[in-house]
Amino acid sequence: MDILVIGSGGREHAIVKKLNESKRVRQVYCAPGNAGIAKDAICVNVGVLDKQGILKFLNENKSVTLTMVAPDNPLADGLVNFLTENGHRAFGPTKEASEIESSKIFAKQLMVDNNIPTAGYKKFESGKDSKAYLDTANYPLVIKADGLAYGKGVYICQSKEEALSASDEIFGGKFGEANTKVIAEDFLVGREVSVLAFTDGKTVVPMLSAQDHKRAYDNDEGPNTGGMGAFAPSKFYTKALADICMELIYKPTIEAMNKLGRKFKGVIYFGLMISPNGEPFILEYNARFGDPETQVILPLLKTDLVDIFEAIIEERLDKIQIKWKKGSAITVVLASEGYPENPRKGDKITVGDIKGLTLYHAGTLDKDGETVSNGGRVLALTGAGSTVGKARKKVYKKINNIKFNGMFYRKDIGIKE
Ligand code: AMP
Ligand code: GLY
Repeated sequence: MDILVIGSGGREHAIVKKLNESKRVRQVYCAPGNAGIAKDAICVNVGVLDKQGILKFLNENKSVTLTMVAPDNPLADGLVNFLTENGHRAFGPTKEASEIESSKIFAKQLMVDNNIPTAGYKKFESGKDSKAYLDTANYPLVIKADGLAYGKGVYICQSKEEALSASDEIFGGKFGEANTKVIAEDFLVGREVSVLAFTDGKTVVPMLSAQDHKRAYDNDEGPNTGGMGAFAPSKFYTKALADICMELIYKPTIEAMNKLGRKFKGVIYFGLMISPNGEPFILEYNARFGDPETQVILPLLKTDLVDIFEAIIEERLDKIQIKWKKGSAITVVLASEGYPENPRKGDKITVGDIKGLTLYHAGTLDKDGETVSNGGRVLALTGAGSTVGKARKKVYKKINNIKFNGMFYRKDIGIKE
């Protein structure tokens, strides 16, 4: 069969590469893709929000019998609903189910209504509303934009002044005209872990756990980003903890969505904070594969990804076994100077010896036969090994064989593990 993947980042490159391993796949297409994806798939020059363009491609290319929608914005925009209504098979949650990510207020309400452990919160629609609360709140306090913000809509505020300035930015439309509601959330301490799970709305099958590194610089300093590197699995996420999370969080979430008539079918991402005494709390849900988590999780997947996608669409996930390779993987993101605020673009990329590693392209473009940077997160270099430490050594040994002007990366991905 032929498959179309929607998206253009490192996550999509990892999905494309994995689909190419499937014996069942003849040709992978990717819309719009990037310079690296173009080596592994046929790129289609259609944007992720161009519903009519995607439909036209599918109508003209009948061999494509499955579309995998990877990024948050086309999911929130209802691309899966649209393709299904037009007679095409699509993998990913509906618009209604994706709201678990696209509205933090919706997600918080869902958690509170169903006793799913999360930080206490308040929601606000204007500065007038929030001022009195921020005057008397305890700090640190976390201010978040309600809607999608490329992983940048979260502010950890140490003082009232910081919280006021963060909420003013959001009310002022920094993340879009339609994204001007704010939540103020209690600050949680503990250890973070990302658990992505496959679900068909009946069964939830968690993948290997992963640890993202969200801050831009070493030692978790600097602004929040979409993610600067990751490793999998996390030793800290034990079987006992996984069992607790299944009962307290994963199953109740899926059941709660069913109760609302918003059956979730696809990949659900649980961003967890584990408190110092071992209790799990939800920081956020995502309605999709994470980036860069996917670049460490999928290389460790043994089962055919197409079999999993189809089992989810057909709601028979309980009938298949999902298997993982032994060992660990780490990925380090190579970013452009200025990321996340104002990344420079257009720098020529050269790649030397990276034997034994996998290079995923994120923000790259082919310009007159040369690969140039075209975004904040440019590349992600992944290595595998029997332990995180061994995988880490492999990646950092060769990472400097990749070069572009203004390139920076974190040197401490996986170091604590
Ligand atoms: P989110 O996009 O909601 O996962 O938030 C991005 C990052 O902000 C998380 O990975 C945490 O590091 C941090 N964060 C979010 N919410 C909280 C919270 N309530 N307490 C402490 N840190 C948080
Ligand atoms: N790495 C976090 C995310 O994909 O949202």
